[in-house]
Amino acid sequence: MAVVEAELKSKKIIRISRIRPMDATFKNNFDIPIHRWYPYIEGFSLNFVKSILDNYDKDVIVYDPFNGSGTTSLTASTMGIKSFASEINPLMRFIANTKINTVKSIVENNKISLLEDNFAKVSHKLLKNKIPKSKYINIINDCYNDKDFFDEDILIDIAYIKYLIVNIEDKDVKDLALLSLASILVEVSNMIRAADLRKKTDKEKASNIDSVPNIFLTKFSNVICDIKRFKNNFFEKTEFISSNAKEIDKKYQNTVDLIITSPPYANGTNYFRNTKLELWILDFIEKETDLKQYRQKAITAGINNVSSDIEFDFMDIVEPYANKLDKLSPDKRIPKMIRAYFSDMNKVFKNFNMLLKEHGKIYFDIGDSEYYGVHIPVDKIINSIAEDNGFELIDKQILRKRHSKTGTVLSQVLLIYNKI
Ligand SMILES: C[S@@+](CC[C@H](N)C(=O)[O-])C[C@H]1O[C@@H](n2cnc3c(N)ncnc32)[C@H](O)[C@@H]1O
Repeated sequence: MAVVEAELKSKKIIRISRIRPMDATFKNNFDIPIHRWYPYIEGFSLNFVKSILDNYDKDVIVYDPFNGSGTTSLTASTMGIKSFASEINPLMRFIANTKINTVKSIVENNKISLLEDNFAKVSHKLLKNKIPKSKYINIINDCYNDKDFFDEDILIDIAYIKYLIVNIEDKDVKDLALLSLASILVEVSNMIRAADLRKKTDKEKASNIDSVPNIFLTKFSNVICDIKRFKNNFFEKTEFISSNAKEIDKKYQNTVDLIITSPPYANGTNYFRNTKLELWILDFIEKETDLKQYRQKAITAGINNVSSDIEFDFMDIVEPYANKLDKLSPDKRIPKMIRAYFSDMNKVFKNFNMLLKEHGKIYFDIGDSEYYGVHIPVDKIINSIAEDNGFELIDKQILRKRHSKTGTVLSQVLLIYNKI
């Protein structure tokens, strides 16, 4: 026993306590200031990250290559820990950057009263009656003009709010107002975000009872309240070291102590279609085809990422499963997707090896998949990829049980690796 303990100590291995299933989803973030600003069902919770970071000193650098809404970075930031991040979706980069670096700037530069003044001005204009708001509609680009994602009067309200926001002089204040607008768009639209974005039923639509200006102002004032609560906290910054986790500059070699992340699962979630209303209204896209450039750079995790010219490396560990799917799947994109998914993961793990210091750790939250009765043991394949890239598995925790579309029990697990 003493020998095992000594070995663990020499590799700086810490046994973390068991993570609760509810912390492995975004659910708990809905009650936590700042974390709750933008609902991101694909995320995990503050407690997930905190239960790992609690075991480390404040001088570590933590990296999340799939940063999403920024749960890892924001948790690290409020614990006084510096973080690096990558995220391919420009909306999510904007959300995470605003939640961390903008809040830090507002607090450090004493801009809370400026924020409140701007809130008062915007709310005064919004609540004044009889404004010819339709003249502002051109501030919304025509990407989805032909779709009925919003009722006409609602889109006019959104346009007027956007017009007021873009005229705010201070960039930090403007970004916080834009985040507030982004975070209410699905709620006031004719769509609903479950696993994907879909049309609301009449009943779901009827639950939209308040006006858009009121919903926006409530959100914006909650954002300001959360910042005021945090005003005495120290915020460490987060640095976006690349947008694409597959492409990292060598200047970051040997700089990272810990990686805490949840990559896209090989389950078809389309992260861009899911956020297209926000990408559109905030001008990250100007036409539907703009989504393609992001899908192509993202980890291939759904059939929508599979184009005819997709490139991937064949891997021995993946072929038995991909071969079965070649025979059983009527949609030939599925075996391609599985091959490309692990080929992408191999690139990501190469970067992990480059970035991490000796005995650096990876906390990797992942789930398995099933297609046409073929179970894809994602954790087993990731273990093999990790090993090929210089890592040893030191712990595995089962976080949650999930179900495939056909009812097969699937698992969400936390894999912990040590850089050898
Ligand atoms: C499961 S979500 C992460 C959620 C995050 N843990 C949170 O709490 O908000 C995975 C993220 O990976 C991003 N992503 C996909 N491909 C990527 C790539 N090649 N590089 C960086 N990010 C990528 C997606 O846009 C998505 O936001």
